[in-house]
Amino acid sequence: MAEPATLQISPSILAADFAHLAAELRAIETADWAHVDVMDAHFVPNLTLGAPVVEALARVSPVPLDAHLMIDDPDRWAPGYAEAGAASVTFHVEAAQDPVGTARAIRAAGARAALALKPGTPFAPYADLLPELDMVLVMTVEPGFGGQSFMDDQLAKVRQVREAVRRHGGEIWVQVDGGVAQDTIGRCAEAGADVFVAGSAVYGADDVAAAVAALRRAAAEAV
Ligand code: DX5
Ligand code: ZN
Repeated sequence: MAEPATLQISPSILAADFAHLAAELRAIETADWAHVDVMDAHFVPNLTLGAPVVEALARVSPVPLDAHLMIDDPDRWAPGYAEAGAASVTFHVEAAQDPVGTARAIRAAGARAALALKPGTPFAPYADLLPELDMVLVMTVEPGFGGQSFMDDQLAKVRQVREAVRRHGGEIWVQVDGGVAQDTIGRCAEAGADVFVAGSAVYGADDVAAAVAALRRAAAEAV
């Protein structure tokens, strides 16, 4: 595996204290992104927050927002998250009717466009979408909740996406999300991931900044 140029950490505020989100964002200023999980209680059986909250977070965050939309009808809603100030907007291919149009609308609104795959969704049918994308998210848990166990069987998909990205050329990131922690991040990096989402592994730690640094180190050591 040829290693990607940079390894980026995107702590998920799903595991943060929702009563103090501005302070929780300040605590991850040494990370590369803040991962914001948007859930609609339809695409996934959980409900979090929407565009008005993303807009408020974008005003105070020391790092750019990485919005992960776990919602139905992203074709209609995803560009609004770019307009709300998210620098990267990820939508699920399982929910999209028009992934090309949606990715283009996200980019036209000024954000990076990313496509997410649930654990049961293969990558191959969507490889043709790469020219429209800035990142592919390989879910390493069933989306909906933090704190679940990492699914090792998704690493083959990470390898497959990395290989397709290499063949395609250009700078397309490969993100993993779910159960990413000290003991799993190395395997993700080795498989070709370069953007690592971690919720409980960061916000569950006593020292959040130290947890970000430790994850970064563990990923770097693996490649
Ligand atoms: C799960 C979310 C994840 C979640 C990860 O549906 O997409 O971003 O916050 O949490 P951990 O790192 O605890 O698995
Ligand atoms: Zn997520």
